[in-house]
Amino acid sequence: MSTSRTDALSRLQGAGRFALELEAVSRHFGALVALADINLTVRAGERRAVLGSNGAGKTTLFNAITGDYPPTTGRVRLFGEDVTDLPVHERIRRGLRRTYQISLLFDGLSVIDNIYLACRGVSRRRFSLKRPGRDDSAFHTAETLLSAVHLDDARDMLVAALSHGQQRQLEIALALAGAPRLILFDEPAAGLSPTERTELVEILQSLPDHIGYIIIEHDMDVALRAAESVTMMHNGRIFKEGTPEEIENDPEVQELYLGQGHG
Ligand SMILES: Nc1ncnc2c1ncn2[C@@H]1O[C@H](COP(=O)(O)OP(=O)(O)OP(=O)(O)O)[C@@H](O)[C@H]1O
Ligand SMILES: [Mg+2]
Repeated sequence: MSTSRTDALSRLQGAGRFALELEAVSRHFGALVALADINLTVRAGERRAVLGSNGAGKTTLFNAITGDYPPTTGRVRLFGEDVTDLPVHERIRRGLRRTYQISLLFDGLSVIDNIYLACRGVSRRRFSLKRPGRDDSAFHTAETLLSAVHLDDARDMLVAALSHGQQRQLEIALALAGAPRLILFDEPAAGLSPTERTELVEILQSLPDHIGYIIIEHDMDVALRAAESVTMMHNGRIFKEGTPEEIENDPEVQELYLGQGHG
């Protein structure tokens, strides 16, 4: 069999099984090694938590996956396709989304307008400043996403007037625009009250099954409820992987985590 046919075949087989494959990924910033030899696979539809102390390399891992800061070495495959050399927008086209540790919302727009713009932004139709009509499909999608993130009551509020928790919920709606297949959430629960955390976990749990995600999370309780698998990072490397229960009960993890004041 020719090499290209073998490649095509393995791509097809991989496409069904893995949303993400990282192979020996590293990222250097000058002399600093922020990521070292990361090998990680995430199944399509899988929900994974990434834990680790400040500076462990969690956000850098996301940047390597999205291409915001491409890996220094190693390969990144999305749904079986090697995207290492593709720009960010090409990865978005393939169903990858992310939220940021710092909010990037349009403060002066209403909740529904923010979602609507995100839906229009990823649609293939030409951008238009005309007010949407009732038959505008992006408008219907925006209303559906509004409900999916429990923001019906805040529909016409300006973003600047939302609580911190509501802003995080809105960010999830924006990540859901288009046809996401893998979403990277960077500490969506940071700064939330216990009630807001519960709501966030409910929203994540009720996402459609085919949408997988990786959630960076400091709060072990949120990670245990929102994820079926856990990757623990330390000093730019993967320190442990397992089910939430395995990770929670692992003596080395406990030592590392408690020693750093988490948990
Ligand atoms: N753009 C950059 N330029 C230089 N150094 C960077 C850059 N981004 C990250 N780093 C460094 O890489 C290391 C890993 O940072 P990273 O932001 O990935 O950590 P993190 O696990 O997300 O931490 P936190 O929990 O604080 O968000 C840190 O030492 C950080 O200072
Ligand atoms: Mg970070």
